[in-house]
Amino acid sequence: MKFDTPAGTNPIDQLKVVGRATDRIDGKYKTTGTAPYAYERHDVAPNQAYGYVLGAGIAKGRVRAIDAGAATRAPGVLAVVTTLDTPKLGLGRMNYATLFGGAEIQHYHQAIAVVVAETFEQARAAAFLVRVDYAPEAGRFDLAAEAKSAKPVGAGSGEGSGSGAEDRTGDFEGAFARAPVTLDETYTTPDESHAMMEPHATVAAWQGDKLTLWTSNQMIAWGKESVAKIFGIPKENVRLDSPYVGGGFGGKLFVRADAVLAALGARAAGRPVKVALTRPLVANNTTHRPATLQRVRIGATKDGVITAIAHESTSGNLPEGRPETAVDQTKLLYAGANRLTAMRLAHLDLPEGNAMRAPGEAPGLMALEIAMDEMAEKLGLDPVEFRIRNDTQVDPGKPERPFSHRDLVGCLRLGADRFGWARRNPTPGQVRDGHWLVGVGMAAGFRNNLLTKSGARVRLDRAGTVTVETDMTDIGTGSYTIIAQTAAEMMGLPLDRVVVRLGDSDHPASAGSGGQWGANNATAGVYAACVKLREAVAQRLGINSADAVFADGEVRSGNRAVPLGEAAAQGGLSAEDTIEYGDLSKKQQQSTFAGHFVEVGVDVDTAEVRVRRMLAVCAAGRILNPKSARSQVIGGMTMGVGAALMEELAVDKRRGFFVNHDLAGYEVPVHADIPHQEVVFLDEVDPMSSPMKAKGVGELGLCGVGAALANAVYNATGVRVRDYPLTLDKLL
Ligand code: MOS
Repeated sequence: MKFDTPAGTNPIDQLKVVGRATDRIDGKYKTTGTAPYAYERHDVAPNQAYGYVLGAGIAKGRVRAIDAGAATRAPGVLAVVTTLDTPKLGLGRMNYATLFGGAEIQHYHQAIAVVVAETFEQARAAAFLVRVDYAPEAGRFDLAAEAKSAKPVGAGSGEGSGSGAEDRTGDFEGAFARAPVTLDETYTTPDESHAMMEPHATVAAWQGDKLTLWTSNQMIAWGKESVAKIFGIPKENVRLDSPYVGGGFGGKLFVRADAVLAALGARAAGRPVKVALTRPLVANNTTHRPATLQRVRIGATKDGVITAIAHESTSGNLPEGRPETAVDQTKLLYAGANRLTAMRLAHLDLPEGNAMRAPGEAPGLMALEIAMDEMAEKLGLDPVEFRIRNDTQVDPGKPERPFSHRDLVGCLRLGADRFGWARRNPTPGQVRDGHWLVGVGMAAGFRNNLLTKSGARVRLDRAGTVTVETDMTDIGTGSYTIIAQTAAEMMGLPLDRVVVRLGDSDHPASAGSGGQWGANNATAGVYAACVKLREAVAQRLGINSADAVFADGEVRSGNRAVPLGEAAAQGGLSAEDTIEYGDLSKKQQQSTFAGHFVEVGVDVDTAEVRVRRMLAVCAAGRILNPKSARSQVIGGMTMGVGAALMEELAVDKRRGFFVNHDLAGYEVPVHADIPHQEVVFLDEVDPMSSPMKAKGVGELGLCGVGAALANAVYNATGVRVRDYPLTLDKLL
């Protein structure tokens, strides 16, 4: 189905199932431990052996020699595959560093061997017997030091960003020089780790030249194509299966070393092999969100109208890597006739930087939205009012492109009202509660809404049950449930008459899970397939599909009512389709918006920061399942607390690796860090986004939170920290 005109009224608008707060249909499997994650797929292939991955102990250089003799002779060992036995493998989609093969080491903990044994313990013990002789070379590990040599660079084929190396509208420098009120500040964000609960893991089995990977991956169609490229085998010979994913946050958008080494280990051992990356390898072998240095300049009239805005971001990556697109939101969030955004990339020999939840906007808003708070203060304006005054309903760089739907102002006004913003004392450091200095802060949230084609197959059986099959994944987000809701609504069935099968590359290719595009696009694909199934049912019953009403498990036409299962009596009925998009999203800018509000207490003696309450008001089109959407948003808000207060991969600048490479050293918020959170969704639909009229919301919950918290800390203390995370040493 081609979607190229705004959606009219359709069966989804009945909202009998869609749009209702619905428990996860997979919840019972997860809470009872019966949802099989990749490393637990004991039943899919018999006689599985265990692979243990060894990472390089240098950050740059060459492997001169590997002596695997003792490891090979160790108890239980079936095979040892080393990087010197293997020619350098191809790169998969958006892989910028070699995953395996050859002597060259590009980053610390690049995989250099996999040891396969009967048990995990035997494989691990033998791995420590592998002797490696390195020829190390000097590397570059310090972003601040390399920033001078950073080169202008566009976003390239990254994850949906439209940023060029430098984008200009009007005359920024002239307007900034003339502006009566200006700000020119630099903000820094650190490297961050996805730190998902389930590490990267894969069970691999070969049948002749066919490879099956039971794995944990967000993007099955990309993964299938990537595995074929990496091994130089036909795509038809590769199958990926990933029905449950224990978190990804972008770290599992791509095929990583677990999949590659499970496959190589399985080939060498002649048996299925399972591999999970250890926690240190998740930090240093896989990808991370790169650190940024961001300069923001804003010029405004005395009454708070922005006349000039510039955002320049420098990040680092391996030579083939891409920049963090931290300037993206600044193109679109506020009006202003004179604009400049630019990105520069420094060469660093740290592990590969790549997408992490809301790549671009998450760190970009951490800078821009502190700058807006600082500007509001210079102008003597309320920060909410300053943002509202500079709202725009068109792309400020291309005024002929309106937003499909934009209610940032609604988010900010409702948020201010619900949060009690009017009671805020605008003078910092004035509010005390015992030994706590108390402050409130806010920020705008923004994340683009991306449209990408998505397919599904639906089958109706004689019992009147509909089975949906798509390679869409559920990374903890609730995909199973919104897909079931969509099919139930379309076919006039209760939710328990829909079965959803996800994550298998034998199913039609979907949008996958990334960039908060999964919910809207994947359900739109299911919608398209259900439209075809409705037509097939009507045709089988000899009724006009335009008059057919699907409700209460029946198809009705005139005074005829046939149970849905009867229509499928002979051999069932199935239909498959893909939603594809015309150029609606080229003519219109599609984005999602939020107002984030945070109250903190800062200990007057120790400067410990405690969050007291948080509110997010989100405008993201139709909310398909308010319950799981809320979970997504509070998860994002929690991640925003981590980004503001504690998350930081500490770089060893001599040896070139992330030191705190485990969940003891890499701090993320725990329950005790997170108090009351409230989420409000504006009641809206976006008929430009898809027949579902929904948009993404899973990343929006994070976007802006860090700055709202930093602004609250400033309001509490009068200390302006521009260097994340806001650890207490920066406040004393
Ligand atoms: Mo997200 S960083 O696209 O999984």
